[in-house]
Amino acid sequence: KREFDKKILCIGAGYVGGPTMAVIAHKCPQYKVTIVDINANRIAQWNSDKLPIYEPGLDDVVKAARGKNLFFDTDVKKGIEESDIIFVSVNTPTKTFGAGAGMAADLQYWEKTAREIREYSQSPKIIVEKSTLPVKTAQAMKRILMAGDNPGQFEVLSNPEFLAEGTAISDLENPDRVLIGSMETKSGLKARQELVDVYKNWVPENKIITTNLWSSELSKLVSNAFLAQKISSINAISALCEKTDANISEVAGAVGMDSRLGNKFLNASVGFGGSCFKKDILNLVYLCRYYGLDTVADYWEGVLKINDYQKERFVMNMLGNMFNTLAGKKICILGFAFKANTGDTRESPAIYVARRLLEERAVVNISDPQALENAENDLKDAEGSIFFIKNPYEAAKGCDAIAVMTEWDIYKSLDYENIYKSMSKPAFLFDGRNILHHNKMYEIGFNVFPIGKAS
Ligand code: NAD
Ligand code: UGA
Repeated sequence: KREFDKKILCIGAGYVGGPTMAVIAHKCPQYKVTIVDINANRIAQWNSDKLPIYEPGLDDVVKAARGKNLFFDTDVKKGIEESDIIFVSVNTPTKTFGAGAGMAADLQYWEKTAREIREYSQSPKIIVEKSTLPVKTAQAMKRILMAGDNPGQFEVLSNPEFLAEGTAISDLENPDRVLIGSMETKSGLKARQELVDVYKNWVPENKIITTNLWSSELSKLVSNAFLAQKISSINAISALCEKTDANISEVAGAVGMDSRLGNKFLNASVGFGGSCFKKDILNLVYLCRYYGLDTVADYWEGVLKINDYQKERFVMNMLGNMFNTLAGKKICILGFAFKANTGDTRESPAIYVARRLLEERAVVNISDPQALENAENDLKDAEGSIFFIKNPYEAAKGCDAIAVMTEWDIYKSLDYENIYKSMSKPAFLFDGRNILHHNKMYEIGFNVFPIGKAS
């Protein structure tokens, strides 16, 4: 008798693989869940008390299942050999070289896993695309897998992940939907049902939707493109608000009350960051161009152009309002993570703003409760005076300006009177997330510059 009903493997122990598999293991004690990675250091961290990523609720879920039915390992071969279902959750960054550089997805890590699966498999397996991939990738995956001695023993499914960082555990426990794409052949439908049965352990059946493979692959890119489009739309309007005395929060409130539009994801900001929005839109734009759909490509590229414009607009606003010179001025950046409740800084707008301020020869103090290690790494090649100071009061002391880059809750309730007293005057406050009480800040004495509101 087998000890477990099913053996599930995940290749790639990153921001997606780790939390996703931890939740499956937690919800399904009858399955053995193993996560493998070529990065031995990362695996060691997953097996330690200090997990490699910060995510609310993750520690509890991992600790409850680790060693019982959740295992982290570096032995990819053994993992593949003994598994029934293999999730592939490796990184698919933007290509930096050759054809499609700066646009297309770099599929080298992806293809390597396909070849490893083929080499080490001795029994039929279901292969699940968890990474975000260009539409039609499953076709390539199938061709690589079928090229071996045992064609027919693999079925490829697409099951994109929709979790957002900072809320990964609750997103996984209560997803809006789970999407599973398969070939619509007899064996494809059978494999699809096996994966539905895994999710059925905790996700209501009406939230598990099934489609053909290509719809599933494409829906992931489109979801991210629509989400980012919503942010670029509100950010574009924030520029117009600043010229016309309209208030972006009031506009967003009025627009978002229309249930057809929805009130979420309408927070104007210094720009969106994160490892995926930019990469996935570039990927979509590249696909459109590849298929000769240049007008469609231009439309989606506009979302990225507005995001770049918003980041640069923020810097120019700082420069213009601080008498057109930042040289030698001290600026405190509050928050370096790309959003609150994560230590992740990938594509964070704070990276762009910090680099631009350094180019203007400002002295930059960077503060963040979780992301300082990543921040140091992101700026290791930047020239100029940069200091990394966890305590926000220390970071702001003696500064000419504060720039809020991340919407961490702790920044909403700092003692701004004391911070103001400790700063050089006139003291400036640029709220890149609109999280502060701007009238109150003005009364304290700050020159206040929110996004999309009269200052
Ligand atoms: P990540 O870089 O954090 O993790 C990927 C891991 O895969 C790394 O630890 C890497 O060492 C490992 N890896 C690469 N090649 C390997 C191989 N051949 N064998 C074993 N391990 C290998 O990336 P991530 O943020 O977890 O993203 C993974 C995928 O999920 C991407 O396609 C991304 O677009 C998608 N995605 C990410 C998020 C998110 O919030 N980060 C959300 C949804 C989807
Ligand atoms: C996003 C999507 O929300 C997930 O559904 C998706 O799975 C994921 O990308 C992915 O594919 O990687 P994530 O990037 O983790 O998740 O975080 P979001 O909450 O979407 O925030 C992205 C960026 O947009 C952040 O910089 C955030 O601060 C910014 N944002 C968000 C705004 O500026 N305004 C808003 O109203 C919302």
